[in-house]
Amino acid sequence: MLYSRGAKRNVQTPNPMTTRTIVIYPDPRLRAKAQPVTAYGPALQSLVKDLLETMKAANGLGLASTQIGDLHRVFVMDVSEDGSCPIAFVNPVVVSRKGQQKRQEGCLSIPGVYADVLRAAEIRVQAFDPSGQPFERTAVALEAVCIQHEIDHLDGRLFIDHLSPLKRERVLEPLRTGAPQSLFGAS
Ligand code: NI
Repeated sequence: MLYSRGAKRNVQTPNPMTTRTIVIYPDPRLRAKAQPVTAYGPALQSLVKDLLETMKAANGLGLASTQIGDLHRVFVMDVSEDGSCPIAFVNPVVVSRKGQQKRQEGCLSIPGVYADVLRAAEIRVQAFDPSGQPFERTAVALEAVCIQHEIDHLDGRLFIDHLSPLKRERVLEPLRTGAPQSLFGAS
């Protein structure tokens, strides 16, 4: 997930980094359903590291494995102002939802496209950390949106799937025509 259009933060990125190529819409790999992680070994540690570094380099708030062509249920997130609070979720499950919120979303896999999406306002999520320790987290506001957006990715779902067909056509127009991104298009 990306910050709203135009919003930026100042993140210091270490060098050199292992960044992976981000899969771009409409690549069918974005529609694949990721499978549960069963081994908490070096391959998982390396996947988490790549996800974190790729997210950071792209100035993203969240990045899911399916966005770098991997099919394990893993995503990373950092919704802090300065990119200082990275967290990895392995086999995440939303166990409860409360209320609704509408917030503008963007996605590293759908560059230049932003739209308001209706999501749960508060969620409780259960997951494992990269060492296999289970944890639970309650999330609200931007963090809750980011977690829902990333878990969608693990199920092959994109934020544009939440829009009406008409709205989706409209926000995807710049991708089809190759027209430069409008400054005022998504609302
Ligand atoms: Ni995304």
